[in-house]
Amino acid sequence: MTNGLHLATRMRRTRASGWSRALHGETVLTPADLIWPLFITAGDAQEPIATLPGVSRWSISQIVDRAKEARDLGIPCIALFPNTPRDLRTDDGREALSPDNLMCRATRAIKDAVPDIGVLTDVALDPYTAHGHDGLIDDKGYVLNDATVEVLVDQSLNQARAGADIIAPSDMMDGRIGAIRAALEEEAFPNVQIMSYAAKYASAFYGPFRDAVGAAGLLQGDKKTYQMDPANAEEALREVALDLEEGADSVMVKPGLPYLDIICRVKQAFEVPVFAYQVSGEYAMIEAAVAAGAGDRDKLVLETLLAFKRAGCSGVLTYHALHAARLLNG
Ligand code: PBG
Repeated sequence: MTNGLHLATRMRRTRASGWSRALHGETVLTPADLIWPLFITAGDAQEPIATLPGVSRWSISQIVDRAKEARDLGIPCIALFPNTPRDLRTDDGREALSPDNLMCRATRAIKDAVPDIGVLTDVALDPYTAHGHDGLIDDKGYVLNDATVEVLVDQSLNQARAGADIIAPSDMMDGRIGAIRAALEEEAFPNVQIMSYAAKYASAFYGPFRDAVGAAGLLQGDKKTYQMDPANAEEALREVALDLEEGADSVMVKPGLPYLDIICRVKQAFEVPVFAYQVSGEYAMIEAAVAAGAGDRDKLVLETLLAFKRAGCSGVLTYHALHAARLLNG
C-alpha cells in the first residue's frame, strides 16, 4: 500500500470496516420511530389502491389484524383514514361527527383488541365532504375558517370519545389547535395528545392519498387558500410557533423528503418533538423506481427513513412502516 500523503486526518479511517461504521453512526432508525397510516373501508374485503401499489383499504376486522402485526413488530402507533361511502358524504361533512363512523368504529375495535398500540386519528373534513375540501365552504367555494373550526372541535371530541390517543388536525385552519385543546380539557381528556400538522404544504404529492380516501374525483379546485405555499419556510416557523402556543404536544411537517430543510429548521428553532409525513406520492415514487428497476426497495426505504431521523425527526408516518420494521428487526 502506498501512503505518500502522510495525512494527519483521513476521514476514510473510520469508514474502513463494518464494525467501525456501526460504532460511528450518528443516527439510529428503529421500528419505534414509525407510525403506520392505514385506510379503512366500509366493505368486508381488502381493497388494493392502484396508485399506491402494495397499500390497501381494510375492513374494520382486518384493521385490527394490521394493528396486531404492527404492535408485534414494535411499531408504537398507527394512523387511521376512512374511505367514507359516497352516500354519506355531504356538503357539511356531518358523518365526521357520527360516533359510529368508520374512524370511531375502527378506533374502538383496535383499542379493545390491541390496547397497547397508539391510535392517531386525522382531523379534517375531506374524507366526509361531497366537495372534497377539508372544511365548510361558502357559495364561492372558499373554505370558511371559524365555522370549520367549530366542526373540527366536535370531530375531535367524537374521536377522543372513541378512544383516540393522538388527535392530528390536518386541515390548516387558524386557531383550531387552541379550540381543540380547550375542548379536550373541558371534556376531561387531559391526556389525549394533539399532533398538529403544523407545516402542511399545498403539495402535488398527495394524489394517491386522495384516491385512497375517495376524495380525488370530488375535490373542487385546490387547497392553496389553507395549505402552505411550497416557497415558504419562515411562514412554517410561524405556523409551528402558533400551534405550540395553542397547546400542540408535537408538530408535523408534510410532505417529507422535499421539506427536510423545514424539519431541520423547526427542530432547531423549537426543540420539540417533530414528525414527518412521508406522503403517498413519495411512497409511489419509490415503488415506481423499484418497478422500473431503478432502485432497491429495501435500501431506498431505509435510507429515506434514516434521513428524517438525521434531519431531527422523532418519528415518521410512512406507508412503508411494516416493511421497514421487518427489515429493522432482521
Ligand atoms: C387530509 C389529508 C391529506 C393527507 C393527509 N391528510 C390530503 C390532503 O390534504 O389533500 C395526505 C397524505 C398523503 O398524501 O399520504 N386533510
